[in-house]
Amino acid sequence: MIDLSSCEEPENDVLRAIFERRSVRDYKDEPVSDDLIRKLIRAGVQAPSAANKQPWRFVVVKDKQVMKRLSDKAKELWVEESRKSSNPDLIRMAQMVSLPDFNIFFDAPLLIMIFSHPDAFSPHYDCSLAAGNMMLAAGSLGLGSCWIGLAAPVERVATMMRELGVPEGHRLIAPLIFGYPAKERQKGPERNMDVILKWIEQV
Ligand SMILES: Cc1cc2nc3c(=O)[nH]c(=O)nc-3n(C[C@H](O)[C@H](O)[C@H](O)COP(=O)(O)O)c2cc1C
Repeated sequence: MIDLSSCEEPENDVLRAIFERRSVRDYKDEPVSDDLIRKLIRAGVQAPSAANKQPWRFVVVKDKQVMKRLSDKAKELWVEESRKSSNPDLIRMAQMVSLPDFNIFFDAPLLIMIFSHPDAFSPHYDCSLAAGNMMLAAGSLGLGSCWIGLAAPVERVATMMRELGVPEGHRLIAPLIFGYPAKERQKGPERNMDVILKWIEQV
């Protein structure tokens, strides 16, 4: 039996960034500079991509009014979806998001949406790897981040996609929020360490 729980503390910056990253949902009312935004995107595009397609395209939103409109639309679409469904998880989630004061972007100062280009070979893998790079880079720059999957339905709203400058055929893969965390180092959910199906040694 392999015991993963007894590993020592992270001994380098990369491991520390990985172990210390947490989804942040409470931000200071402080903007993220364009210089940092460029660093985040430069970190994103260093990700590997299938057939080196580099299919990621980014929409940067710093305007909280635009974020609020995207949030309201996403909430409306989730509620619509839940009315057609008998899935209790979806119904519970729609009830939660439909609360009038709930902003799916947690009032963060920055939203970066990663879209995939239609020519992508493996859009979800590639853009998710870019998102992972960006969230780790954010931590190294003193920023918090969170992937907001709840924003997914807005890609179906053509008028909004036009407003965001997204060409036809692009798919929304990773809506990410960033900002300075309002709280110091938060603790994330415990990790299940019972994850190894099999460990095959050389015989
Ligand atoms: C694909 C994906 C979608 C997610 N969507 C949301 C979301 O809509 N809202 C949210 O608050 N967190 C969202 N999260 C964050 C997860 O809840 C979080 O990663 C998980 O609880 C583990 O916590 P940690 O990131 O702090 O380790 C999402 C994460 C992923 C990978």
